[in-house]
Amino acid sequence: MNTPTPRPRILIARAVFPEVIQRLAQRFEVDSNQADEVLDAAQLVARLQGQQGLLSTAGDVIDEALLAQCPSLRICANMAVGFGNLDIAAMSARGIVATHTPGVLTDTTADFGFALLMAAARRTGEAERCVREGRWTKWSYDFMAGQEVHGSTLGILGMGRIGQGVARRGAHGFGMRVIYHSRTRLDAASEASIPAHFVGLNALLQQSDHLVLTVAHSAATHHLIDAAALARMKPTATLVNIARGGVVDERALIEALRNGVIAAAGLDVFENEPAVHPALLSLPNVVLTPHMASASRATRLRMAHLAADNLIAFFETGRALTPVPAPALSAPA
Ligand code: DGY
Repeated sequence: MNTPTPRPRILIARAVFPEVIQRLAQRFEVDSNQADEVLDAAQLVARLQGQQGLLSTAGDVIDEALLAQCPSLRICANMAVGFGNLDIAAMSARGIVATHTPGVLTDTTADFGFALLMAAARRTGEAERCVREGRWTKWSYDFMAGQEVHGSTLGILGMGRIGQGVARRGAHGFGMRVIYHSRTRLDAASEASIPAHFVGLNALLQQSDHLVLTVAHSAATHHLIDAAALARMKPTATLVNIARGGVVDERALIEALRNGVIAAAGLDVFENEPAVHPALLSLPNVVLTPHMASASRATRLRMAHLAADNLIAFFETGRALTPVPAPALSAPA
């Protein structure tokens, strides 16, 4: 009599939709962190012993130190389009497959980028706090007067799917002139369909009324928006970050917001999430949200299913569906 092949063992690092766990449990031995404790490195290593697959999220750091202690791991399916939490070089050196969730969150994330742009430029957060705190006492000609959005110049840094989504919203919905800078220039037809104009980084900084960051975080883009870059921007400009916190030098941004180097910012991502620099909390001209750009129920469900699909495809066919592209470290989201 043949002994049945043991089913692959996987860890789901954070809580996910029960229906996704059910799908995975039909094929794998599943250890699922449905209690949703945030596992530190040592806890993650302990839970990964004997596991061949991992369903991770953007907060789970998978680096060489962890991989060295988890010899059974063969695939990490990240439930995020970004993969700055994965050391791709260390994973490929060990033959471990990395996957992410491109495509399924593009429009939801672009919607939110635009919401942050509007909120920062039109001072929505500040205004809402003012009303709630009973400080709205009279009409004044310049009360809560912010920056114009329609007809202004929208800059995009990192013209991947999400950047293009934000660009289309600006151009088609708000009549904005779109300029962008990216590692890879779009083809002429894609540029024309938005329309968007490729410019150098300096021109992008100098000409944008609203600059939206959608570039992947890497060694090359770490603190790309530093004090010198902020100083090139217009004093009326807004900066929106829906990429990763590390793309912006947070201390430099705080000084720029404090000193009127730029007018306002909208931040969904931070350098030390979930901790937010205390100085940001007390600045009126920044809108702060908790890394939620992809957070509609439908999109998060699609992301979880795609991460699960990757695990299933990898163990059933040997090929993952959406592996992290090579060269991974500079690919835009
Ligand atoms: C992503 O998918 O990269 C979003 O930022 C959520 O982590």
